[in-house]
Amino acid sequence: MKISFIGAGNMTQAFLKGLDRSFFEHEVWVSNRSQAKFDMLDYPNITTSLDNHKAIQNADIIILAIKPQQMFELLEASRMDIKSNAIVISLAAGLSMRQLERWMFPEVKLIRFMPNTAIALGIGSIAVCNNQNVDASELILVKELFKPCGSLIDIDENQFELFIAASGSGIAFVYQIMESYIQIMKELGLNEAQAKSMIIDTFIAASSMAKINPDLEDLMNRVASKGGTTIEGLNVLRASKLNDILMDMCQKTIHRSQQLSEELQK
Ligand SMILES: NC(=O)c1ccc[n+]([C@@H]2O[C@H](COP(=O)([O-])OP(=O)(O)OC[C@H]3O[C@@H](n4cnc5c(N)ncnc54)[C@H](OP(=O)(O)O)[C@@H]3O)[C@@H](O)[C@H]2O)c1
Repeated sequence: MKISFIGAGNMTQAFLKGLDRSFFEHEVWVSNRSQAKFDMLDYPNITTSLDNHKAIQNADIIILAIKPQQMFELLEASRMDIKSNAIVISLAAGLSMRQLERWMFPEVKLIRFMPNTAIALGIGSIAVCNNQNVDASELILVKELFKPCGSLIDIDENQFELFIAASGSGIAFVYQIMESYIQIMKELGLNEAQAKSMIIDTFIAASSMAKINPDLEDLMNRVASKGGTTIEGLNVLRASKLNDILMDMCQKTIHRSQQLSEELQK
């Protein structure tokens, strides 16, 4: 298969890092409007090009990895190059499938991906939805190809904003919580290196264990024995406004995502 990434920015680079060797047995192309980013793509068997037409023509899978604001111009210039049975994957936040179909053609086989940056390490999450032109076997093929990057989660297109709050942006919210935790441990007496190392390890340990056993209540009960230290801290969290704060954080994120999406449809 010929698989072409359009745009050689952050997301294409993250995907290329996360994909496994078998992906590169295909004919992989990356096109970009300027040369500089190609220097960061040190992979055997990749064809780089400044010419989108060459990358898109005859491609079986096309990954649109440019900014949403750049999409109309690209598709206006290149939609005629997309072969009728190609599968087009859009990474663009806020651009609906309906909008993208309008900018290409109604029969286009279209999949939307919403990845987070952890795909580079193979532990990412990718929200996935597709239009009615994509059949089940094509969806399976695409999911198999991108599986090394992390979990691919089928959701309705109207839930993409929730995915952003939970995962896309969510990863930054966790960093902020880690930073606050580190700051507090420093105020309590650890030095920077100690605090960072302990808190990062705590998050790794907690999420690794939760991946194996998703029953969080059970995991907490195993740590929090009656009359012990953990229950004291947990009680503080449970009596706090933590849920209200997280709700506000998610709602504001979702609202901003909706606003950006509306601006793009104009
Ligand atoms: N970054 C994230 O965490 C994230 C998460 C989820 C989804 N996304 C989505 O992924 C997409 C890509 O984001 P990104 O962060 O990778 O953006 P980025 O780093 O800005 O990369 C976009 C690349 O596209 C190139 N480009 C722009 N117009 C072009 C055209 N007409 N033809 C060829 N190349 C063109 C740019 O070239 P230059 O080098 O010349 O500027 C740039 O290298 C966006 O739609 C975004 O919404 C991003």
